[in-house]
Amino acid sequence: MSKYTQDKNYIYYPNTNIPINKLNIRDLKTLEEEERKLLLKGYEYFHINLSEQTVFDENYFVELHQKTFSKLYSFAGKFRTVNISKGYSTFCQVKFLEQSSKKIFTKLAADNYLKDYADKPNEKFAQKLSYYMCELIALHPFFELNGRITRLYFDMIATYNGYEYIDYKDALIIEEGYNKFIRASIECLNGSGNKMYQILLNGLNKVQQL
Ligand SMILES: Nc1ncnc2c1ncn2[C@@H]1O[C@H](COP(=O)(O)OP(=O)(O)OP(=O)(O)O)[C@@H](O)[C@H]1O
Ligand SMILES: [Mg+2]
Repeated sequence: MSKYTQDKNYIYYPNTNIPINKLNIRDLKTLEEEERKLLLKGYEYFHINLSEQTVFDENYFVELHQKTFSKLYSFAGKFRTVNISKGYSTFCQVKFLEQSSKKIFTKLAADNYLKDYADKPNEKFAQKLSYYMCELIALHPFFELNGRITRLYFDMIATYNGYEYIDYKDALIIEEGYNKFIRASIECLNGSGNKMYQILLNGLNKVQQL
């Protein structure tokens, strides 16, 4: 059985949950290790390239996925073309993907892409972050790596505002198939960002000035 319920499974090798990849890796552990390395490089690249002028718009978000994972996946930087659900949660339908994404990023633009939180209380920042985190989780625009790219995106926004990368502490440790981040995501799809807010608030730390 495949890991996901979805219309079609064509990004995976037949009868596996291994996404077809450019290195033709067929072993999940090896693939995860490769993804881990690429994500780390992505963090480095986007951190180095952060500047006052960085605009955290839709193009930027897509570029995070594209630049970080195009060595491995041909679906990098492309929106998915199949409907996806996980557990009891169904993410944004493909036919609404583009317009829903535009809506989120238009709202983010009105919030100046969260670039004005360096001098605000953590609570205010965490509120905004959790709102948009929930929106992007519900969107789930890519075939795979949505969680990691969404966290990378907000880590860059956090960095811009003088914060360390968000510390998810134990929220990403999987126990019995779930972790706290997934539980918070499920709550997001049910219309409440409270759990996500708590995770983010706990994870916000200002960079210590010497
Ligand atoms: N049952 C669920 N209900 C709602 N959202 C879910 C559920 N399971 C997973 N998610 C969301 O989907 C994300 C996983 O998506 P995907 O597998 O595309 O990315 P990923 O980078 O592998 O994510 P992660 O590293 O967080 O596992 C999770 O981070 C979570 O936000
Ligand atoms: Mg995954």
